[in-house]
Amino acid sequence: MTKIYEATVTAPVNIAVIKYWGKRDSALILPTNSSLSVTLSQDHLSTRTTIRASPEFSTDRLWLNGIEEDISASKRLVNSITTARKLRAALEKKQRDDGVASEDIVLLSEWSIHVCSENNFPTAAGLASSASGYAALVSALGALFQLPQSTSDLSRVARVGSGSACRSMFGGFVAWRAGESNDGSDSFAVQVADRHHWPDLQALILIVSEKKKTISSTAGMQTTVETSDLFAERVRNVVPKRMAAMEKAIAERDFGTFAEITMRDSNQFHAVCLDTYPPISYMNDVSRSIASIVHAFNTARGRAAAAYTYDAGPNAVIYALKDDMRDLAELVTYCFPRGSTILSEDFYADPFNMFGS
Ligand code: PMV
Repeated sequence: MTKIYEATVTAPVNIAVIKYWGKRDSALILPTNSSLSVTLSQDHLSTRTTIRASPEFSTDRLWLNGIEEDISASKRLVNSITTARKLRAALEKKQRDDGVASEDIVLLSEWSIHVCSENNFPTAAGLASSASGYAALVSALGALFQLPQSTSDLSRVARVGSGSACRSMFGGFVAWRAGESNDGSDSFAVQVADRHHWPDLQALILIVSEKKKTISSTAGMQTTVETSDLFAERVRNVVPKRMAAMEKAIAERDFGTFAEITMRDSNQFHAVCLDTYPPISYMNDVSRSIASIVHAFNTARGRAAAAYTYDAGPNAVIYALKDDMRDLAELVTYCFPRGSTILSEDFYADPFNMFGS
């Protein structure tokens, strides 16, 4: 009888409110600063990954949205799978050392795997698909290999696939502690608050363009580290204070402070991109007009009632509390009707369901 072991896991996308931008070590993916994100509901943006292991498989293979990819062409994929396998091999060794009978030890670390991964959203839309992708891969490997490591420990494995993926290992509000070591042992994700902590907080995703970004985050942040003068100021003097203030705002469910820091940090990340030489500009005129609408909305309410944030692309994510979100969503659809070139018809996340049911 063919022996097959299988695990299936779903991992969601996360959207940073304090941005990760810059590596101090690109092989281990160690960041120059800590970052903090909100993990979105699995219902909208997530990756579902099934991994099978069998002694009869001759090589590792991976299918992404039904199309086979060459694993060996991606150093990051190889790194994450190899790291997880080493943890499994250590577990098998421990079982041997503990006197477990050899026929009772399954040598999963020596078998090849088949990985099947599907996104429930357009991969090209620039919506952190690598974060959910690597988090799902590593969680599924953890389940398949029955690894005893904690989620924070496993987040270090996801980190070597894609930095921001380490934050998608948890739901709710998640910090990625940059750490100081050279080996990455202290660079991992921790949950700051779970998804039930702030039930009124909602996210609205506005797809401005579904095109792939022109400059990858890896290439962009490398050039920023090498050329931007503003960048050092951000890393040294701005982010540490913002991390502390943001964690406090989340703990106290203080939306005004959460919103202001979120917008300021997005703005500074894009300012640092513009200060890169040659400059990088991820936002476009539509992104900027969405930001203006949010500020006009906040001025009309006399408080920070909504916050925008943009990653390495023109699409906006807006955070607001439930009551304000209803009005803001109405205003945005009035300014940019659904199905227009601005908001794509098929992708307009339900703002009333950020954390799922
Ligand atoms: O993990 P990467 O290489 O996809 O970089 C993500 C960078 C940003 O999305 C712009 C910011 C962040 O913290 O997610």
